[in-house]
Amino acid sequence: MTTTTLKTRTILSLLLAACVHAAQGAEPLSIDQRVTQLMKRMTLEEKVGQLTQYSGDADPTGPVAVKGSLRDGISSGQIGSIFSAKGTRSIRQYQDLALQSRLKIPLLFGLDVIHGYKTTFPIPLAEAASWDLEAIERSARVAAIEAAAAGIHWTFAPMVDIGRDPRWGRVMEGAGEDTYLASRIAAARVKGFQGRQLGDTDAVMACVKHFAAYGAAVGGRDYNSVDMSERMLWETYLPPFKAALDAGAATVMTSFNDLNGIPASASRYLLRDTLKGKWHFTGFVVSDWRSIEEMTAHGFVANNKEAAQAALSAGNDMDMESGVYRENLAQLVHEKKVALADVDDAVRRVLRKKFELGLFDDPYKFIDPERERAMLNKPEHRQAAREVAAKSIVLLKNDRAVLPLSKSIRKLALIGPMIKLGVENHGYWSVTVPEVDYAHQAVSAWDGIAAKLGKDATLLYAKGSDIEGEDRSGFAEAVRVASEADAVVIGVGERWDMSGEARSRSKLDLPGVQEELIKAIVATGKPVVVMINAGRPLVFDWTADHAPAILYNWWLGSEAGNAVADVLFGDVNPSAKLPMTFPRSVGQIPIYYNHFNTGRPAPNPTATEWVSAYTDLINLPKFPFGFGLSYTTFRYADLKLDRQTLRGDGKIKVSIQLTNTGKVAGEEVVQLYLRDRVASVVRPVKELKGFRKVALAAGETRTVDFTIDKESLSFFNAALQWNAEPGDFDLMIGASSADIRLQSRFVYAR
Ligand code: GLC
Repeated sequence: MTTTTLKTRTILSLLLAACVHAAQGAEPLSIDQRVTQLMKRMTLEEKVGQLTQYSGDADPTGPVAVKGSLRDGISSGQIGSIFSAKGTRSIRQYQDLALQSRLKIPLLFGLDVIHGYKTTFPIPLAEAASWDLEAIERSARVAAIEAAAAGIHWTFAPMVDIGRDPRWGRVMEGAGEDTYLASRIAAARVKGFQGRQLGDTDAVMACVKHFAAYGAAVGGRDYNSVDMSERMLWETYLPPFKAALDAGAATVMTSFNDLNGIPASASRYLLRDTLKGKWHFTGFVVSDWRSIEEMTAHGFVANNKEAAQAALSAGNDMDMESGVYRENLAQLVHEKKVALADVDDAVRRVLRKKFELGLFDDPYKFIDPERERAMLNKPEHRQAAREVAAKSIVLLKNDRAVLPLSKSIRKLALIGPMIKLGVENHGYWSVTVPEVDYAHQAVSAWDGIAAKLGKDATLLYAKGSDIEGEDRSGFAEAVRVASEADAVVIGVGERWDMSGEARSRSKLDLPGVQEELIKAIVATGKPVVVMINAGRPLVFDWTADHAPAILYNWWLGSEAGNAVADVLFGDVNPSAKLPMTFPRSVGQIPIYYNHFNTGRPAPNPTATEWVSAYTDLINLPKFPFGFGLSYTTFRYADLKLDRQTLRGDGKIKVSIQLTNTGKVAGEEVVQLYLRDRVASVVRPVKELKGFRKVALAAGETRTVDFTIDKESLSFFNAALQWNAEPGDFDLMIGASSADIRLQSRFVYAR
C-alpha cells in the first residue's frame, strides 16, 4: 500500500468518525475524551508500546541497547516514540511503519535540539553569558522552526541543571551557577521552543532536564552521586525546573544520578510527590538514556523487572532506550506488582501530547520536504545566530585598549590551533544534519576575519601548536609570523568535545603547550589578543595575568567566525557577563559567588590565619560571576529606594542612573544583589535578584528600575517553608558580583 493511500485512508477513517460524531449534533470530543476512547480499544501490550522509546538510525548519544528489529516493534505497536531520526525522509519511513500497526497510533519524534538544528547557535552556556533573554528565546524559536520543519515534534531541551563545578563537562549545556538567571533563561528557552502553541508546525515540545540536581555530581564527575539537603535542592536546583514548567514545558526528563540515595529515574519524591503532585504537572516524564535499566547498576534494584516496577510506580512514564518496560510491564501488571491505573495514567499523558500535536488528525503534518528545504539555514536564521554569538563573547581583559582592532590594519597574524577550525565551532550537542554537507555550515575565525578585512589587509598564519600534545616545533614559525605583524590574534582552547556528556576533566588548564605558545607570542611585545574556545570555565592564570586582551568565545555555532570578527573590529561592542565563576585553580572548586559567609570569613583575599581560605592561593576567583568588560565605560549613580521599609506584600522601587561615559555605544548588564543579614538559616553573602541589559549611546544616561518584593527576600527555612523573614537587608547594584558600584539597606517588616 503506498504512503499516500495509507495516509488518505487514515485521514478518511478519522474524519468519518468525527463526522459521525458531529452529525449526532454533539460537541467535538475533547482531547481527554479522544484519549479515553482510544485507550478503551488498546491492549495492555499496545499501552506499554506507548511508553517505549528507542533511538533511530542516526548517531547514538549513549551506549546502544540491543533492541532487535525497530521495524517490527514499530509496525506491531510496541514502540511509541523514536528519537535521533533526522530529516523528513527518514521520519516518514518510521511513521509509515507506525500506521501499519493495528490502531495506527502515530510515533512521536524527539531529538536533542540543544542549540540549533541546522543553523547552530552558541552553546547554551555561551548564550547564558549574553544575559539577553530575548536573544535566547529567539535562538530557541529558530531551532524549533528548523527542527519542526524537519519532522521533529520534541526537543530534549532546555537543560536547566545548575552548574557550580566546571570539571563537569555538561556545564556547557546549561545556564551556569545562578538559580535566578538560570530560571529566567529556562523560561525563555521553553517559550522559544514551544512558540504560540503545541501543534503549530513551527513549534516543538520542550523537555526540561535533567530532573534533578544532575549538575551537583560529586567531584564534577558525570553520572556520579548527588547528596544534598532538601533545602539546598529546593532553593538552588529545583527553581529552574519550576520556571520551565510555569512557562509550559510539555515534558520532563529524569537524570542519571542517584539523589540522596534514590536514583532520580525512580524517585517517587521527585516524580509523583513533587512534579505531578505539588506542581500538578500534566505532561509526561521520559527517562534519560537507559537510566531505568541502570538502576540495577546503582544497586537500587536486582534486575530489569524490578527496575521497570520501581520506575513506573514512581511516575516515570516513558522508557528511553532500555526496553525494560517493553519486556516487563505487562507481566508486572498481571502479577499486580504494578497498578494498571499507573500504566493508564502514563499512557494517557503520552497520548494527550500526541493529540495536542495534531498527530492523530494528520500523522504527517510535520513531514513536508518543501518546508524542510525552505526553513533550514535561512539567511535570517544565520543572522540571528551571528547576533547572539557576538552577544555571548565575554571580554575578560583589554589593557591599553588593544581592542577593538583597527579595520585598516595592514598585517594581522592569526596564530593557534583554533583559528581555522570550522565544524568544531558547532560545539557539543550540535545536530549533524545528514543530507547536507555539514562542513560548510560553520564560519572559522580565519574566514570571518578575512571577510571582515577584505583584500587590503595581509593575514599571516601559523598554527603554532596542536590543541594537545607536547610538540613545540611550530613555535619558531609562530614567533616569526607574529614579529612580522602589526598585531596578533591567538586562538586557543580545549577541543570542542572536551566538554559535553561524559566529558568531565580533572584538570582545566589549556591543554597541551598552548599556554607556552601564548608566552612565546606575548614575548614578542606585539599587541596580542588571546581568544579562548571552551565549553566550560578553564584555568589560564599566566595568560590572564600577562596577555593584554582576552576574549572568551566558548563555542559560537554556525556564524562563529563572523561574530568573532564583529567583536574583534568593534562592529559589535562586547556586552557578555560570565554565568559561572572562573577559578584560579581546580583546587578551588566548587567555587561560586553566592556562598555562605561562614563563622570565619577571610577579611581580605590574602588572609589565611584561622579563616576560611587556602594557605597556598589567594582567596578570590580568577574572574567572578557576572563579570565582563566593554569597549566603553559606564557610570552607576544616584541609587534611590522609594522607601526604606518593605512591609508585608508591599514593594520597594529601586532606581539608578546609568551613563555610558565612553565614546562608543554599548550594552551593560546591571545586576541587583541582595543579602539577608540575619535569618533562621544562614544566607548567602549575596544573591542575584534582578538584572537589566541596557543599551546606551555614547554619553547617554538612562534610569534603570527594579522592584523588590517579599518574593525577592523569600527562601526555604529549615522546615522547608518558603517565606521571607523580617530584618535588615543589603541591596547592591553591580557590574558583576564582585564589582558593586552602589549600595543601600532596607528593612523588611511583616
Ligand atoms: C543522553 C543525555 C540526554 C539526552 C539523551 C538522548 O544520555 O543525558 O540529555 O537528551 O541521552 O540523547
